[in-house]
Amino acid sequence: MPELNPTTVQAALDAALEQVAAAQTAAELRAAKAQVVGEASEISKLNAEIKNLPGDKKAEAGKLVGGARGQLNAAFEAKLADLGKIERDQKLAEEALDMTAVAGTLPRGARHPLSLLMDQIGDVFVGMGWEIADGPELENEWFNFDALNFHPDHPARAMQDTFFVAPVENHLLLRTHTSPVQVRSMLERELPLYVLCPGRVFRTDELDATHTPVFHQVEGLAVDKGLTMADLRGTLEHFARVMFGPEAKIRLRPSFFPFTEPSAELDVWHPGAKGGPRWVEWGGCGMVNPNVLLAAGIDPEQYSGFAFGMGIERTLMFRNGVTDMHDMVEADVRFSKQFGSVI
Ligand code: DAH
Repeated sequence: MPELNPTTVQAALDAALEQVAAAQTAAELRAAKAQVVGEASEISKLNAEIKNLPGDKKAEAGKLVGGARGQLNAAFEAKLADLGKIERDQKLAEEALDMTAVAGTLPRGARHPLSLLMDQIGDVFVGMGWEIADGPELENEWFNFDALNFHPDHPARAMQDTFFVAPVENHLLLRTHTSPVQVRSMLERELPLYVLCPGRVFRTDELDATHTPVFHQVEGLAVDKGLTMADLRGTLEHFARVMFGPEAKIRLRPSFFPFTEPSAELDVWHPGAKGGPRWVEWGGCGMVNPNVLLAAGIDPEQYSGFAFGMGIERTLMFRNGVTDMHDMVEADVRFSKQFGSVI
């Protein structure tokens, strides 16, 4: 049991003040306070002695210990204020903003040349009063094949070309071309009809320099009274000139597609081709087969139509001299940037 007298109280106070002075942070100071004034502290023990003193000594002893406690509290408050200021100053210094610092710039992205090309093709036709149409990429087999007059055993339906979606009984597939949008447009829109359908299509090809299982096509369809092959030719010739320059021309070679009759392969004379001007195979076209008009509820005795379709990747390849499909698929911004924002 400690002896309670001015010397022991002063010694306890000095030791406690030393501990308060040694604290470096507010947290350390709080810990020190708990030690020096807490129940187990020397001061508290001395305080507990007061009750054992004779009555006439209690007041004096109380003053002595109380005074020491008072000094200790004052020292604690002063130290806390000091530490608080130091910590605030430190925080302000750490969080200081240099308003004159030069901000780092984020690299700018680029639009993919395939999107740019599809937009540009869209503009050519919108400029002639056509509308843009679209349809689902997950398509019903009926729209992709049957309504387009594909015979049930047509080889294009076979598993090696088409991604059928399980279960097969649902007759869903990833559309193999944009032609099903022809049928959807005829069913959904009023006649006469002039629509352009750019979009993504899918076939079970391996990715190599000239193939990709996911690619893009653009489809055109016009249905009106009295349309002939001459309208098809004129439209495609205009399209070719906008895309390949005023010296471009087109050539139609007889061909076969189930949904057109007659059908033709479309070649374009490409004046700016790499290695000199030449004919390039560009797409397919023809007069809409009457069976397709009938499937869409249109009377082929009153209306006729023409249609065409071509690949966007292929067009970008020969128009802009891209030689490897991988460049278009990988979407490296350095590739896209070469085309600027307009191609
Ligand atoms: N759908 C055909 C294909 O993917 C392309 C095509 C040919 C579309 C002739 C047409 C057309 O509209 O008339 O190979």
